[in-house]
Amino acid sequence: MISWRKHYKTVLIAVGLLLSTSASVHAQTGDPSNGEKLFKANACNSCHALDKQVVGPALGGIVAKVKTDANVGPDWLHKWIKNNKELRASGDKYANEIFEQFNKTEMPAFANLSDKDIDDILAYTTNPPAAPAADAASADGAGGTDMNSVAALEAAKNNEAASKIIITSLVVIAGLLFWLLLKLRTLVNLQKSQELNAKDSAKAFSFAEFYDKYRMVGTGILSVLALIAFYGVWNWLMWIGVYKGYKPEQPIYFSHRIHAGVNKIDCQLCHSSAKYGKVSEIPSLNVCMNCHKMIPEYKGKYLEPGKDKAFYDGEIQKIYEHVGWDKEKMAYTGKTSPVQWTRIHNMPDFVYFNHAQHVVAGEHAIIDGFNKKHPKKDDQIDVVCKACHGKIDTMNVVQMANDFTMGWCIECHRTTEIDMKNGYNKTYFKNLHEKLKKQFGSGAKITVAAIGGLECGKCHY
Ligand code: HEC
Ligand code: HEC
Ligand code: HEC
Ligand code: HEC
Ligand code: HEC
Ligand code: HEC
Repeated sequence: MISWRKHYKTVLIAVGLLLSTSASVHAQTGDPSNGEKLFKANACNSCHALDKQVVGPALGGIVAKVKTDANVGPDWLHKWIKNNKELRASGDKYANEIFEQFNKTEMPAFANLSDKDIDDILAYTTNPPAAPAADAASADGAGGTDMNSVAALEAAKNNEAASKIIITSLVVIAGLLFWLLLKLRTLVNLQKSQELNAKDSAKAFSFAEFYDKYRMVGTGILSVLALIAFYGVWNWLMWIGVYKGYKPEQPIYFSHRIHAGVNKIDCQLCHSSAKYGKVSEIPSLNVCMNCHKMIPEYKGKYLEPGKDKAFYDGEIQKIYEHVGWDKEKMAYTGKTSPVQWTRIHNMPDFVYFNHAQHVVAGEHAIIDGFNKKHPKKDDQIDVVCKACHGKIDTMNVVQMANDFTMGWCIECHRTTEIDMKNGYNKTYFKNLHEKLKKQFGSGAKITVAAIGGLECGKCHY
């Protein structure tokens, strides 16, 4: 026992060392992690990867690469990313070369990205947040997603959840130790066997004896490690990809506070598809023009600190430029250009989330459930959207109000009682309801979980 204590300490020290190195890997990043978010939010990752060519070239170390290939600096990359077409049209030799090289595949313009955004993205391509532990842990069935675990871990760290990183590291260490022990076992079995070379038998025997002696300790450690590993994997799955607070700049300064708050415009007037479809979509500029044909300037009393009427007027003017509207002549000019809003909420492709299911079928259940959990009057909600998106009508700039992780979905499914009165549930879950009533009595709580809301297949394709 005493000698084991010694080993125990050594293991602790080794684990501590490993953890501190992995923590320092994470500590040096900052902007790259914002760059990574932007990289994803602007769907750069649909055409680019860092380490391999996808639709476009690999972007890992691109700053250094363009320097050696074409002797151009980051300012060239800024121009390219903002509007590569313009850059090509200006006769830039290298720009035209790569365009030819990629069979004239058009990369979209990203005029919405600020210089700082692009710097962040470039920082990400130069210095992607490294997390070797996470890479090892992510070699699972979720491959091919655009949400990589490095991003997830980075974000988790930003959310003061460094403990998750530690857990992930522990999982990897546990895995390694487990593997070692297995190897050791095989070795011992081999040495115990008849084919054993007579010469080594003395040595092998003493080793086998040693192994037998400490077998219980080994099993004990193995079980603890297995538990830790299980806990780590579970946490990792539940809270991966936390982007709470993500709040990008938009091409037109559109204030939800002024529209949905001060002027009380219904969410669904603009996000009408939330009701019917899987997605909720950003409204097209035609929707804006329904009102802004008649509202060419800002006359409201509410002014966000630091903004004035001239600023708001300028932003409304941007709508006109994009849709090609001459406000003096009150006529369309025909010169249009698209607005590229930055997507804020974006689930990975392998997740199935349906707005209608929540906004229509789940409306009352979600509002009631939320208000029960938030008894303070100020925190209560009247519109279903706010349960997930927060008080958007008080935000000038939309930001993610929740984690939007698997753990977050499941937490609500586990605690929210469904509304048995809505038509959908009445027909589909009638039998189940009867059964549960018999089982638990008529006052039984039926949560989303009870109707299958925790089944993997409901949320994953
Ligand atoms: C629809 C696909 C697509 C998207 C989305 C896209 N790109 Fe590209 N990108 C390309 C292609 C294709 C090229 C190669 C040149 C060409 O054919 O225009 C390229 C080239 C580049 C280059 C120049 C690489 C070199 O070798 O010099 C950079 C930098 C770049 N993209 C960055 C970005 C960033 C940053 C984003 C997101 C803001 C993005 N791209 C989004 C397709 C895309
Ligand atoms: C007058 C039109 C309008 C109204 C009303 C409106 N929105 Fe929006 N919404 C937009 C536009 C435009 C954007 C994209 C720009 C932005 O992110 O601010 C947007 C973005 C969003 C986003 C982020 C989408 C993303 O990229 O992930 C959410 C969530 C959202 N709105 C929810 C709401 C909710 C909830 C309400 C009601 C309280 C509401 N909106 C009312 C026009 C509107
Ligand atoms: C239902 C009518 C309505 C719709 C639809 C609408 N707006 Fe507005 N918008 C208003 C009103 C009302 C104001 C405030 C005017 C005032 O107080 O003088 C306003 C103000 C603005 C302003 C200045 C304040 C701010 O938010 O920065 C901008 C910019 C603007 N709208 C952009 C848009 C865009 C972009 C869309 C489409 C996505 C849109 N609006 C859709 C009614 C609307
Ligand atoms: C149960 C939680 C929940 C409720 C309630 C909810 N949303 Fe969402 N919303 C989400 C999730 C999750 C996403 C991300 C979906 C994705 O990426 O596929 C999202 C995305 C969005 C987007 C971005 C565009 C899109 O469809 O991906 C808009 C806009 C939006 N929601 C508006 C609304 C509005 C308006 C309401 C109320 C009518 C509402 N949401 C109610 C969870 C919710
Ligand atoms: C605020 C609470 C809440 C959150 C957060 C939430 N849901 Fe739900 N969800 C519900 C409710 C309530 C229902 C049941 C609707 C009904 O009565 O049919 C539901 C139903 C579902 C269903 C159908 C289940 C079935 O058995 O028919 C799916 C799939 C689903 N949600 C996916 C998601 C995903 C994916 C997320 C996270 C991105 C999520 N939900 C987040 C409240 C929530
Ligand atoms: C209520 C909806 C819901 C249910 C039920 C659900 N998931 Fe998920 N799952 C999600 C969402 C949402 C994400 C994406 C989270 C993110 O991107 O932050 C996710 C992500 C994942 C990931 C990938 C993690 C990553 O991003 O690399 C795996 C693996 C996974 N789920 C497995 C499962 C398994 C196994 C089950 C059944 C035990 C399950 N899920 C049940 C909603 C759900």
